[in-house]
Amino acid sequence: MNAPDPLVDRFGRVHNNLRISVTDRCNIRCVYCMPEVVQFLPRQDLLNFEEITRFARVAVTLGIDKIRLTGGEPLVRRDLPALVEQIAAVPGIKDIGLTTNGILLAPMAIALWDAGLRRINVSLDTMDPAKFEILTRRTGFAQVIEGILAAKTAGFDPVKVNAVAIKGMTEDDVVPLGQFARKHGLELRFIEYMPLDAGDRWERDKVLYAEEILDLLTRGLGPLAPAPDQDPRAPAVDFDYVDGHGRVGLIASVSRPFCMSCNRVRLTAEGKLRNCLFALDETDIRALLRGGASDEAIALALRESVAGKWEGHQINTARFIKPERLMHSIGG
Ligand code: GTP
Ligand code: 5AD
Ligand code: SF4
Repeated sequence: MNAPDPLVDRFGRVHNNLRISVTDRCNIRCVYCMPEVVQFLPRQDLLNFEEITRFARVAVTLGIDKIRLTGGEPLVRRDLPALVEQIAAVPGIKDIGLTTNGILLAPMAIALWDAGLRRINVSLDTMDPAKFEILTRRTGFAQVIEGILAAKTAGFDPVKVNAVAIKGMTEDDVVPLGQFARKHGLELRFIEYMPLDAGDRWERDKVLYAEEILDLLTRGLGPLAPAPDQDPRAPAVDFDYVDGHGRVGLIASVSRPFCMSCNRVRLTAEGKLRNCLFALDETDIRALLRGGASDEAIALALRESVAGKWEGHQINTARFIKPERLMHSIGG
């Protein structure tokens, strides 16, 4: 389906990528994302599958063709494969991905594949089970590894592993994660720690920068060269090992913001539309969906949200204002 009139903002950025958070709940409590104690949304506040799919269908008419399901932890939402199936059936959707912590993945990998999901990104910050418990405040390391391997076996390609990089905390994890990824043919990405955490733990000094990670990998595993087939609109800058065994991505949100090539909008689990990860304002799509609004009115709300998008986050300026919404209720 061709978009009659794509979603363009004031800076000429065309938006084709919608990230949908299906729940704010999570079965772990990563220190960089969630507080230890958290009040989750009541069930009736969440968009149901029909509402999510209707929004996706409207978004496709404006040029959205790539959808990623996020959370919280999306696999704690009951019957997620059914939602994948409904979205996959929307004409015009070319790509459906999932970002998960992997704990519940192993027993669901085949059902997700059969439902039409093709790309999976799993968050894993360390290969040390004891460190995993410190970072996530829960157990589950073995299930995550099992989940990653089950996704590979089910046919997902690529399976990406996302590791948040925190200075003074995860330097020692960079090389072991690199080894694991190389061994199993996974695409490993390191994400610079961003100020969307609970409890205001983030400080600039805690960002482990992409350059430093590259240096650790080069010294520990061998030389890397910029990948030839980069997607200029993806957050990660990719590098290939010169020996031909594997690829690493660096998501340098803090040291090298990629806002000028941003193509993403986000829908939260309770149906609030965010035109930026760091947006301070939201558009209430749920009110439209539940208030009898027409598809045209919903499309207009999406178009207006994108039209009002700012240049990008201000993390590196004194003007930075941390959004009230934390990472677990945005979905990354
Ligand atoms: P694919 O490119 O489709 O594989 O997905 P992705 O890399 O966008 O998805 P994923 O959920 O794995 O994102 C990895 C991390 O990149 C997210 O958790 C965010 O921390 C970061 N990220 C993704 N999109 C944006 C964005 O628009 N802005 C910023 N600042 N960070 C982003
Ligand atoms: N900074 C950077 N990345 C984060 N994530 C969660 N919180 C943060 C943060 N404060 C990542 C997760 C996951 C993705 C959805 O977002 O590790 O891979
Ligand atoms: Fe896009 Fe906002 Fe991320 Fe920048 S910070 S890349 S504008 S979502």
